[in-house]
Amino acid sequence: MLSGPTVILALKIAVAAVTVLLLASLLALWQGKLKLHGRLNLAFFILTLAAVLGFELIIRVIEPATFDYIKNNPDLLRALNIHLLFSVPALLLMPAMLYTGLTHRRGLHLLLATLFAIAWAGTFVTGIFFLPTDAP
Ligand code: HEM
Repeated sequence: MLSGPTVILALKIAVAAVTVLLLASLLALWQGKLKLHGRLNLAFFILTLAAVLGFELIIRVIEPATFDYIKNNPDLLRALNIHLLFSVPALLLMPAMLYTGLTHRRGLHLLLATLFAIAWAGTFVTGIFFLPTDAP
């Protein structure tokens, strides 16, 4: 059976891994390799979406009680809600990033990139440092 802390640990590893891809895509951008930036971010998009869908499948369908211990603990629930304040906007912005990048709407892509950078940085920090992976 998958425990909540195990699921959180797996997600932390996934977030750290795709963040490496995102940083590599920014490095590519800095070097003027726009196509590589796009390729790396397509991989970033697909992998992140797959992780989110797998995660939702586990906590909503396979094991709906996974995070009951978080819902029953006000401190943990607060940490989760703060995390969701960043991660949900980050997820919603991702298709818009892909679309504006692929269609070369540079101004809009860069505007959304600012919001996305804030949302992703918040997702990373609150997910990796605020959510506990020790047994409840
Ligand atoms: C977070 C900071 C980001 C910055 C500063 C940034 C910046 C840029 C810039 C300047 C371009 C060139 C636009 C043009 O063709 O005129 C570009 C292209 C692109 N970006 Fe981003 N981007 C960022 C994040 C992302 C993300 C998160 C995605 C996807 C999830 C993405 C996907 C793309 C794609 C697909 C292209 C087109 C590449 C091509 O020409 O083949 N970008 N980006």
